[in-house]
Amino acid sequence: MDYAIVTGATRGLGESISKLFIEKGIGLINVSRSENTSLRTLAEDNDVSYEFFECDLSNSAETEKIFQVVASKVFQTDVEKVFFVQNAGVVTPVNPSGELSTEDLENSVHVNLLSPMIATNTMLKLANNDSQLIMVNVSSGAGSRPVYGWSTYCSTKAGVNMLTETVSLELSKKHSRHKAIAFSPGVMDTDMQETIRSTSKESFADVDAFKRYKEEGMLRSTDTVANVLLKLVTENEIESGKLYHVNDLL
Ligand SMILES: NC(=O)c1ccc[n+]([C@@H]2O[C@H](COP(=O)([O-])OP(=O)(O)OC[C@H]3O[C@@H](n4cnc5c(N)ncnc54)[C@H](OP(=O)(O)O)[C@@H]3O)[C@@H](O)[C@H]2O)c1
Repeated sequence: MDYAIVTGATRGLGESISKLFIEKGIGLINVSRSENTSLRTLAEDNDVSYEFFECDLSNSAETEKIFQVVASKVFQTDVEKVFFVQNAGVVTPVNPSGELSTEDLENSVHVNLLSPMIATNTMLKLANNDSQLIMVNVSSGAGSRPVYGWSTYCSTKAGVNMLTETVSLELSKKHSRHKAIAFSPGVMDTDMQETIRSTSKESFADVDAFKRYKEEGMLRSTDTVANVLLKLVTENEIESGKLYHVNDLL
């Protein structure tokens, strides 16, 4: 049996990715702040294992503790592959530097970057060589270019890209079977886009462009993007350390 661990599976891209893993018969571990009853029902209907681990990823101690439990669970059984999708993320705070609160900065760095670092470290500590760990860190185009008002989001996503490359380098030097990639999903029609559209032009200079993406139907559905990711990781030999972009895979 294979397992998939998905963070932030309550809604948006994380929910779509989780749905597809379950439909493929892959056991799902949902690490989120709240339960998703539709995923639980889908898993029951498909006779696939499903477990929910409540975790606030802005809390470092809680994140480490939960991933110790998750890792001991998935690496104990006779598991061939463990897909680990770090999807949870926040776009806030949206404001130019100089107009941000330290508390908001801290929350963003914790959820977007520190929790993926803690979870990666904890999972690798407990991983064995019988199972292959395939780590997918959900990134953003904002990790590769500056966006006015998004200094925190851009910096954390750039950090996610570098985390992926560095961990991958270390794994390959150790001749490990485990792999890590980053995945940039493009613009999708989710709550995060609603948050972006609700910001002022003073806070976020590109807000009109994002309003237009919605009006002109340019935001992709999360199911479309999740399909691309699932095909990539379950049907192809991925190149560890690479930042994959959805636009190149459609
Ligand atoms: N939407 C886009 O256009 C877009 C573009 C590029 C990249 N991305 C990236 O894609 C990923 C998914 O985005 P999305 O659009 O699906 O976002 P979303 O709809 O806002 O969902 C975000 C998910 O992250 C979880 N989350 C947030 N804070 C958390 C915390 N403290 N602890 C645990 N979980 C937490 C949320 O859970 P709760 O329900 O508990 O809040 C939710 O499940 C993110 O990494 C985002 O940066 C999105």
